[in-house]
Amino acid sequence: MSVVALDRVSLRLGGRAVLDDVSFSIEPGEFIGVLGPNGSGKTTLMRAILGLLPPARGTLRVFGRAPERGDAAIGYLPQVRTVLPDLRVRGLDFIGASLNGHRWGLPSLSPAERDAIDATLASIGAQHLAQRPLSEMSGGERQRLLLAQALIGNPKLLLLDEPLISLDARHQEVAIDAVRKVCRERGITVLFSAHELNQLLGTLDRVLYLGNGQAVLGTVDDVVTAPVLSRLYGTDIHVVRTDGHIFVMARGLDVERVHHVHDHGHEHGHHH
Ligand SMILES: Nc1ncnc2c1ncn2[C@@H]1O[C@H](COP(=O)(O)OP(=O)(O)OP(=O)(O)O)[C@@H](O)[C@H]1O
Ligand SMILES: [Mg+2]
Repeated sequence: MSVVALDRVSLRLGGRAVLDDVSFSIEPGEFIGVLGPNGSGKTTLMRAILGLLPPARGTLRVFGRAPERGDAAIGYLPQVRTVLPDLRVRGLDFIGASLNGHRWGLPSLSPAERDAIDATLASIGAQHLAQRPLSEMSGGERQRLLLAQALIGNPKLLLLDEPLISLDARHQEVAIDAVRKVCRERGITVLFSAHELNQLLGTLDRVLYLGNGQAVLGTVDDVVTAPVLSRLYGTDIHVVRTDGHIFVMARGLDVERVHHVHDHGHEHGHHH
């Protein structure tokens, strides 16, 4: 049984089809890189899988049934991370709260729960965050805590929406490696959205590329091609491959870099 299956699905927002008549299925244990320009529907798709946006048309199945809100089998790292609670809580308590069903103020974590939290924090190189209050963490440190939170409840499906944003290059690598390792070990299916394909090349099984209301799921070799991407971007795209790197170019500009700077430049200081 597929983990996620779309059959002729349309997702509409504000009277516009973000995805239109889209079909694909994702199999258990796959690591899927979700790519596409700003506004192509990466976040919208994840929200639909979470049961937060019913399809306007078609059938969307998650674990073989209609998506259910609050499904404990799905771990989610939202792109917009405004849901941080009381900043005085320590990293350990923050993650502990998601283990005991978001009941704040429960002091007692069992030894097994503490061990699980320690192990998860360690897996993303963030043990030192356990005893620190959120108020004293940098943006990237909080983000790694949120990643740990998404991993902690033994999810079968992990939806990570731009988990690399606001992490520096080294911690981007750490995060990718950690997600890959944890998910391979536990057979977790991952949808991992990003603006940079190259960092994920060694990790992803298939790529889901969105654009122009469409979605193409396949191997990098099948999907990251000039004809497919020209259709998805709605403009002439060139794909340049050099030793282990792929550059997606429109009119001589690296599309990923352009979007990256345009979208998140303020977080990276990439402005020239
Ligand atoms: N609540 C809303 N009402 C109307 N339109 C919306 C709403 N939320 C998003 N949209 C539109 O839906 C489209 C898809 O947005 P979405 O956030 O899924 O894109 P994305 O691929 O995640 O983009 P990004 O790379 O910037 O994160 C965009 O055109 C966006 O403007
Ligand atoms: Mg998004």
